[in-house]
Amino acid sequence: MRTHFCGLVDEALLGQTVTVCGWADVARNLGGLCFIDLRDHEGIVQIVAEPSDGAQGSANAAVVAAAAGIHYEDCLRITGVVRRRQAVNAKIKTGQIEIVATQIEVLNRAEPLPFHAHENPGEDIRLKYRYLDLRRPQMQQMMRTRIKLVQALRRWLDARGFQDIETPILTKATPEGARDFLVPARMHEGEFYALPQSPQLFKQLLMMAGFDRYYQIARCFRDEALRADRQLEFTQLDMEFAWVSERDVQDCVEAMIRDVFGEVMGVELADPFPRLTYAEAMRRYGSDKPDLRIDLELIDIAAIVKACEFKVFTDWANRADGRVVALRVPGAATLSRKQLDELAAHAGKFGAKGLAWMKVDDAAKGREGVNSPIAKFLDEAALGAIVSATGAQSGDLLLFGAGVYRTCSEFMGAVRLKVARDLGLVANAWKPLWVTDFPMFEWDEEQQRYMALHHPFTAPAVDDEADLRANAGSAVSRGYDMVLNGNEIGGGSIRIHRSAMQSAVFDLLGIGREEAQLKFGFLLEALRYGAPPHGGIAFGIDRIAALMAGTESIRDVIAFPKTTTAQCPLTGAPSPIPDAQLAEVHVAVREKARP
Ligand code: AMO
Ligand code: AMP
Repeated sequence: MRTHFCGLVDEALLGQTVTVCGWADVARNLGGLCFIDLRDHEGIVQIVAEPSDGAQGSANAAVVAAAAGIHYEDCLRITGVVRRRQAVNAKIKTGQIEIVATQIEVLNRAEPLPFHAHENPGEDIRLKYRYLDLRRPQMQQMMRTRIKLVQALRRWLDARGFQDIETPILTKATPEGARDFLVPARMHEGEFYALPQSPQLFKQLLMMAGFDRYYQIARCFRDEALRADRQLEFTQLDMEFAWVSERDVQDCVEAMIRDVFGEVMGVELADPFPRLTYAEAMRRYGSDKPDLRIDLELIDIAAIVKACEFKVFTDWANRADGRVVALRVPGAATLSRKQLDELAAHAGKFGAKGLAWMKVDDAAKGREGVNSPIAKFLDEAALGAIVSATGAQSGDLLLFGAGVYRTCSEFMGAVRLKVARDLGLVANAWKPLWVTDFPMFEWDEEQQRYMALHHPFTAPAVDDEADLRANAGSAVSRGYDMVLNGNEIGGGSIRIHRSAMQSAVFDLLGIGREEAQLKFGFLLEALRYGAPPHGGIAFGIDRIAALMAGTESIRDVIAFPKTTTAQCPLTGAPSPIPDAQLAEVHVAVREKARP
């Protein structure tokens, strides 16, 4: 049908006849002389239809007539001769040349479109007409970044002997902390398959089966609240290794990520990645996925304010589970009351009861030199100690948080991110790191039981079950996350490979013997037949692709994503199902749940 792609016609083809296909991006009729910008996946080329001055006269009149009738997004096939352009367009790859049309064929007319390829009409419309949205060059670019990423990952893994193995989509629940999507089993009345939240248990079984190193570009399904970095279905690069310790896994995948960023983005990531324990990440950055592009740290000041007059500070400074911290923001003493109130409101969303502040106008002048609603509660010594502990200089702003250790850390972590973004303090850089030594369990007040911080198959740092049971509250796991620019791009762990330890962990998670047998009996049994030590990790492909494409939302690198209300405006999913079809799968919809 065509000899060349529009975007790839270049000066090497000068004087030659080519045939290109594509959409009419722009059609201009200058009265007898017509220009068409013809667009395909490689780019745009300019087509000219001009009345000829010579022998071709009548033939060209037909071409000009055809060109004059072209509308936006018509599908065209055009043959013509490549010639040098008079007015060079430096903005596009083909800007040096144009094609003088000798034949224009309309393959399909387009009706007036809901929106133009060069405009962004808002997400609902974009998703309803996703096939048009995806025609936009910017979307093409972002999707191709994702494709390149996946190609590079596969090449890397295939070259190193990783085995690509598919695991079931119709399966039994694998808990990763979200709700399951259920599929009724027609052949087993009243029973259901669950869609996998991850291939976790199957990949572990593959290690027990002797495949040694596995990977899969795996679709995962989690029924959870959607955000910019979360979809109901998303894609993982899922990996598992037998006979390994955490450093074996980390060193391998760190090299992979470094190589792939080099190949796809041409960037050199740190070698080695910095490492932080969970405790240190929370202490210094108030987050378990710190954005290290921001050069601001939380400074503990409990010791300084233990005996001051500000009750909020003294209360929390004297509580074993409390924390009082300061965050120095260089040059931010100019922030307005409104901006400070916005920061406080933002902190409030993360559980803050308030956000105290101090503008350091002149660091040398003590009380005289600061402007703060809490200055009156602090004596000169405390004020001086705060200024010196934070390293505050004249013109800086100090923000203060006090509260339960975790909550205070998290709201100050959120303030750190917001103030850095608002003031342009986020460096233009790639900052990966490992976060390690996570707590094994988190206590859930509502349910009055421990929850797994990673998943229930993550090994504890201690080898002995009795030891774990005795110190469950403070137990550390062998889990690790890879973080890039404040995003958790991967998470994994060394797994439990002994049945007794797995039973102990189920126990501590409040999963009774019977329930454990029912849900995970197959795993407990498999662990008894010679399960090797093993571990792995899964990377969020959508998140890495979004970072590479420079977009905030993973929806931009997913061809057909769901909206934040978990719907697909294009197909109308989810949708009601006729009773007859429901009956086949033994399901009845409750009357009040009917749409
Ligand atoms: P985890 O639950 O941490 O680990 O998931 C691994 C990575 O997948 C990405 N991710 C998501 N991306 C988009 N939308 C979502 N809803 C979503 N949820 C997670 C994140 C995350 O780091 N089985 C374990 C891995 C293992 O232990 O090997 C697991 O699934 O980037
Ligand atoms: P108040 O005495 O409640 O008016 O508080 C005085 C200042 O302390 C205000 O700027 C509050 O925002 C701030 N503040 C109150 N509670 C906290 C807290 N838990 N952490 C940090 N600042 C707080």
